Amino acid sequence: MSTTRKECWNALAQLPQPTLAELFAADEARVEKLTRRIELDDGGIRFDWSKTHLDDARLDGFEALAKASDFDEMRRRLFAGEVVNPTEERAAEHSTLRGVGKDASVEEAEALRARMLMMVQAIHDGVLGEVRHLIHVGIGGSALGPALAIDALAREDALVDVHVVANIDGLALEEAFAKCDPATTLVAVASKTFTTIETMTNAQSALRWLADNGVDDPTGRVIALTAAPEKAVEWGVDETRILPFATSVGGRYSMWSSIGFPIALAIGVEGFEQFLAGAAAMDRHFESAEGRENLPLRAAFADLHYARILKAQTRAVFAYDERLRMLPDYLQQLEMESNGKSVTVGGEPAGITAPITWGGVGTDAQHAVFQLLHQGTNLVPVDFIASIEPGDALDPAHHHILLMNCFAQGAALMAGKSNADPHRNYPGNRPSATMLLDDVTPESFGALIAFHEHRVFAAAVLMDINPFDQFGVELGKEIAKKIEAGGERFDPSTEALLKAAGLS
Ligand code: F6P
Repeated sequence: MSTTRKECWNALAQLPQPTLAELFAADEARVEKLTRRIELDDGGIRFDWSKTHLDDARLDGFEALAKASDFDEMRRRLFAGEVVNPTEERAAEHSTLRGVGKDASVEEAEALRARMLMMVQAIHDGVLGEVRHLIHVGIGGSALGPALAIDALAREDALVDVHVVANIDGLALEEAFAKCDPATTLVAVASKTFTTIETMTNAQSALRWLADNGVDDPTGRVIALTAAPEKAVEWGVDETRILPFATSVGGRYSMWSSIGFPIALAIGVEGFEQFLAGAAAMDRHFESAEGRENLPLRAAFADLHYARILKAQTRAVFAYDERLRMLPDYLQQLEMESNGKSVTVGGEPAGITAPITWGGVGTDAQHAVFQLLHQGTNLVPVDFIASIEPGDALDPAHHHILLMNCFAQGAALMAGKSNADPHRNYPGNRPSATMLLDDVTPESFGALIAFHEHRVFAAAVLMDINPFDQFGVELGKEIAKKIEAGGERFDPSTEALLKAAGLS
């Protein structure tokens, strides 16, 4: 850490810590200052950070830190397609998939997208015969995005019934088989590397299921979504059914690429393009807005205030909308796989990095875990995400109660309530941020996800860590391979477990 960064962190740590009530009392314009809408073609999103402890002094301090961290230069490099992932010598070009970034990469991404969308259209038009189901096998970044997007945007209206299967536990695949008719099912094999053991094993089993159920040419039913097309060819997929994407797109940033094929299949070509357009609107905002006016950067300021200065070990995300119920799972990978690091870009100890992301869906979570948020001893900054328009067509009372509860929770966490009886006392001063969508549409959903991608990047730059590698996941994979190969001894506990399960 350079001295200037260190000085910035020290200065931030020494700032006075007014309560939320004091901050609101001191500044009538607080809501205006810390709330901003991103306007999209079909509505917008309101980002309200006023119930966090960001104040002018802290914003000044974090802006100084951003300067000391060369934030503007790092952001320029990100969008210019320069190396921002130095341990793997790679750029991180997810924004080019939305049309924002280095021209040559945008052009390449457009060509690949055209190919992917042609395939989607051909399937919708019946060129591959009747297709009613898609089993999408993939894991981590090759599954969480598609699963979330389809759950958020398609549900019962899906143009093709998609089942995302990630787990190697055969039960997951069997459940999908039970819901699909083999004669009208395609299989998407989604893997950036086309080597991941869970995905390749699930893909083989899906082919066997097709063959066992009278499909003549099971491999002919496979569509490969990958950045390693040569591996897909080796595996037996015909080149015409391989939809590639660039290796400069990270797995957890890949749902905008051909990994999003099932999304386009479920919501249609137009919907997919709107989804990209929403993300592009957020890209342009992130690329151009300065300092505290930049929403992902501002969110990173608050995130780091809680994680690094106040040492909050977790942060929670509650989607007050069934359509976004899988968002916490998705954000767990995005945030924890990106910023769950211990060393700086230069290999020095990084200090505290990403908090644990967790969460759930409102109002369910209120009746399960909110006790701790209101009266527990952990500081847990909370994000609330809701939509003004409902996803349901029932009595509007449902949606009103949902939204009122969402806003009530933020208010209660902040205000608290004193009571002479300590058991009934609410300390308050507990922070939250609220993202209020006009509606959950492909466009607003795209913008919401891109906001989180850039928030993660901004936090990484301020912490001087690389958010784009994930070496931490490798060791477990290596040991699993050694166990499979046999002949190696492990610790006594592992040996005993292997023996108990009949694996040694
Ligand atoms: O093990 C972690 C990981 O590498 C993730 O980063 C990635 O999203 C996932 O595995 C799946 O990888 P692939 O798309 O190459 O199958």
